[in-house]
Amino acid sequence: MRDATLLYSGKAKTIYRSEEPGLLIMEFRDDITAFDGGKKGTMKGKGTYNCCVSTYFFRMLESQGIPTHFMRVLDDHTLAVRALSMIPLEIIVRNIAAGSLVRNLPFREGQVLNPPVIVIDLKDDSRHDPMLNDDLILALDIVSAAELQTIKQTALRINEVLKKFLSQKGITLVDFKLEFGKSDEQIMVGDEISMDSMRLWDTHTGTSLDKDVYRFDKGDVMITYRTVAMQITGGECEEVK
Ligand code: CDP
Repeated sequence: MRDATLLYSGKAKTIYRSEEPGLLIMEFRDDITAFDGGKKGTMKGKGTYNCCVSTYFFRMLESQGIPTHFMRVLDDHTLAVRALSMIPLEIIVRNIAAGSLVRNLPFREGQVLNPPVIVIDLKDDSRHDPMLNDDLILALDIVSAAELQTIKQTALRINEVLKKFLSQKGITLVDFKLEFGKSDEQIMVGDEISMDSMRLWDTHTGTSLDKDVYRFDKGDVMITYRTVAMQITGGECEEVK
């Protein structure tokens, strides 16, 4: 299946070309990074749990009519995905104030944001992913006004689906990041939806259940990732010893 061509290696995933036109291979590695790559590590099994949760959510979104790049599972840490022309935006949906919102703006940690707030950053590590607004996105000609509207509406729909599902599991969806791409002019969800890209709190205790455990040394990252992955998928993820 895999030919040797490595297309792109990011902080936690590697993309390979496949022999099938229009299909790419996305490998979830065990690497973990935070603070713009300032903190780095490797955790055995992390790639598998993120791959499993992403697969679960992609299937859930597809079943709700929301297009994603997911095609099929190749192994416990590798997916076949549709090749997209990626849009260099990070779409962050926030239900509760945390992270950069609290650091940079006068929000209180834990403050409920109702309606949810969408923040869009430019995906550009060399510029540290600066925050954009609609006018800047259009002036930079990143997407059209209609595409931007589609992206925002889709992000809010995804938020409703994930928030409701997670709340039934006793997990509060604080915020999460999406990336979108285009295939034949259709906008689709790309990248991943995992513990690396979501901020999740235990609804009862407020404990972090995501990459914040790694960012701020809040506990055992792998125990957290494994527990959350099993909780989200109802035990569907492969156990990594
Ligand atoms: O978490 P941090 O302070 O770095 O940034 P944030 O803007 O508060 O992040 C909001 C949400 O988007 C968190 O769930 C992050 O994990 C996620 N995010 C991400 O996955 N990738 C980024 N490059 C930036 C944010």
